[in-house]
Amino acid sequence: MTQANHPPQHVAIIMDGNGRWAKKRGLPRLLGHRAGGENMRPVARIFADCGVRYLTLYAFSTENWSRPRTEVSGLLSLLSRKIDQETQAFHEENIRLVHLGRQDRMSERLRKKVRAAVELTRNNTGLTLCLAFDYGGRDEIAGAARRIVDAGIRGDDIDESVVARYLRLPDVPDPDLVIRTGGESRLSNFLLWQAAYSELYFTAVLWPDFGPQDVEEALSEYERRQRRFGRI
Ligand code: IPE
Ligand code: IPE
Ligand code: MG
Repeated sequence: MTQANHPPQHVAIIMDGNGRWAKKRGLPRLLGHRAGGENMRPVARIFADCGVRYLTLYAFSTENWSRPRTEVSGLLSLLSRKIDQETQAFHEENIRLVHLGRQDRMSERLRKKVRAAVELTRNNTGLTLCLAFDYGGRDEIAGAARRIVDAGIRGDDIDESVVARYLRLPDVPDPDLVIRTGGESRLSNFLLWQAAYSELYFTAVLWPDFGPQDVEEALSEYERRQRRFGRI
């Protein structure tokens, strides 16, 4: 009998299935995104209570810009509204908010809001919640390469630890568990570098429906996994 894994230190979630959740109910897709948005804080709370220290939520990919303009602008205003309405509650729950992704393609107004939320919560000592918005794994790795060149580091001196240090959140440990809701079994450009040895968990449950029972199932499945990291 092998020993069960400890609770994961870092869980990362691809929050997929909002559109289908809405469609099933005959609602516009944006209402699915709104329902999905409302599920973020409760799910963060559950993971925090289970001992998870870092939670990364994939909310908008670098590819999601290719959606219809109305959906993109709906998602941007949803983010803006969520920051207005929920930052204080996150702060009171001692949650540290971090943004993962590009900030150069959002409006100045939204960028300021994102930065203010990060600043307000920066000294909180509970869960670290990384919101991946305008995030793409390839974009992040290309950015690291650019910063390595700009820092004048010689090719011979570049190894894995150097690359890892030039990614966007060098102090956040790699995810132990990556969960994808919504039934697809792919990464869709999420944490390509960091997920090298993550346990992957795919569930058909649509993100707005993902609740305490589903968290429990994901965590107990994780407990049963045998992590080898290339060893025997
Ligand atoms: C995930 O839900 C949220 C984003 C990608 C912004 P989707 O909008 O992809 O939902 P489905 O996959 O169409 O159901
Ligand atoms: C992945 O979902 C991105 C997010 C959940 C933010 P998508 O719905 O964009 O992924 P694909 O297009 O099905 O791969
Ligand atoms: Mg989708």
